[in-house]
Amino acid sequence: MKVIVTKSKEMMSINAAHILASKIMEYPHLVLGLATGSTPLCTYHELIKMYNNGILDFSRVTTFNLDEYVGLDDSSPYSYRFYMQKEFFDYININQKKINIPYGIAEDLTEETKRYEKAIKKAGGIDVQLLGIGRNGHIGFNEPKSNFETLTHVVELDKQTIEDNARFFDSRQQVPRKAISMGIKTIMNSRKVILLASGENKAEAVKKMIYGKIDPNLQASVLQLHPDVTVILDKEAASQLKYTEENWII
Ligand code: PGA
Repeated sequence: MKVIVTKSKEMMSINAAHILASKIMEYPHLVLGLATGSTPLCTYHELIKMYNNGILDFSRVTTFNLDEYVGLDDSSPYSYRFYMQKEFFDYININQKKINIPYGIAEDLTEETKRYEKAIKKAGGIDVQLLGIGRNGHIGFNEPKSNFETLTHVVELDKQTIEDNARFFDSRQQVPRKAISMGIKTIMNSRKVILLASGENKAEAVKKMIYGKIDPNLQASVLQLHPDVTVILDKEAASQLKYTEENWII
């Protein structure tokens, strides 16, 4: 694992955007795994800026989002599809046909999970997967104790995840109890992983992910086994790590 500690959330985001941009420039047909939540927002905004400055071309890029709530359709302002359009896709020249997000209102959810895995395979697999991390160490919606061998599946959200995500809804009651999520195996199959974390409330999960034993109770710890992971943190998320300021690259 390569760990980059930055001075601020803004620098974390710029750093992540630069890595993604260099990959897109290198491979215009990049297959990009994307995340939602508050952590990657500024990274998307940085990528939009680069697009507006004529630096990036997304027309051949394919994307696969990590997860989607069950029961929310595309028009729901709480759905991850809506978030992605509003925060990123509406502002770049991505081909809408190359955007993939699990369909949270599919009639047969199990079929939907299989369809999603097939689509990833057909696209040639994910080249770069962007991740956040939950306070409980989840990646995607793979909650504590999930099986590391799981592909895209339907998950029951953890109590803490429901609490944490209630801030995006009008009330806790509105937070869906289920989601479709790429599994740990899907994430581990990606060729490269970039995990972002910002804020003190992520510091403990980050510490366990990096120094702890590989343990299904802290799902992100499995990334210790991935051959190409870059973790980008702000100093608050890194506050429980041992490092000196000389390790800071930004
Ligand atoms: P956040 O969520 O970016 O909103 O903190 C991250 C996650 O739960 O994976």
